[in-house]
Amino acid sequence: MSLPKITADAVRSMKGRGRVSALTAYDFAMARLLDDAGVDVLLVGDSLGMVVLGYPDTTHVTMDDIEHHLRAAARAKPRALLGADLPYHSYETPADALANARRLVAAGAEFVKAEGGRTILPQVRAVLDAGIPVMGHVGMLCQHVLELGGYRIHGKNDAERDALLADAAALADAGVFAIVLELVTPLVAAEITRRVAVPTIGIGSGRECDGQILVTTDLLGTTPGFIPKHVKPRMSFATDARAAISGWINELRA
Ligand code: KIV
Repeated sequence: MSLPKITADAVRSMKGRGRVSALTAYDFAMARLLDDAGVDVLLVGDSLGMVVLGYPDTTHVTMDDIEHHLRAAARAKPRALLGADLPYHSYETPADALANARRLVAAGAEFVKAEGGRTILPQVRAVLDAGIPVMGHVGMLCQHVLELGGYRIHGKNDAERDALLADAAALADAGVFAIVLELVTPLVAAEITRRVAVPTIGIGSGRECDGQILVTTDLLGTTPGFIPKHVKPRMSFATDARAAISGWINELRA
């Protein structure tokens, strides 16, 4: 008997009942592989910009980029809940947020993710009011890396802790079904997890979140020169792939 399709409501109901597993996918083959392995949530994240498109950060990713890769991932027809990032500058106003969320739904998204808390609440509400599930994202907001001057841990002082708690609570009250906590101190991530009613999905934010999300290429060791501190790669794809490819070339030349 096949397992039921995972919905945003199903993920919401996992609060306090087991860990949500979430991974990024940018194409058909990877979406199918991750889905076969049983992951709960697939995200066509704007990390796409770095790990697939070769940009230095996520600020270069466009709606067209996300739509193209989302359509490919959606062709895998995953059981996992499939969603996509609203890229930088695509949700400056509630009208923009809604129009672009609708484009992503048309390309196969079952939810959209947007970075920010109270400052983007009108945008989040516009998308939710149209019946499109939203995943929140607080802590390190990679789309603002240039303004922030780099990647760093958030929540290290009282002001940041209070702001993160207020942002997460506001998103949960607005109706998001889950919230990504990126590079939040483990103590603050645990406190947010205790205090909000929807699952928190951590990345580099300790073990106390209701789930974890990783950039899949980090987990598989595709880019060996760059392994974020919070990732324990499960294989070295780059080393194995290089050996397989040079083995094939050597055999061909022999
Ligand atoms: O773009 C992405 O991959 C993400 C995850 C890191 C949460 O937003």
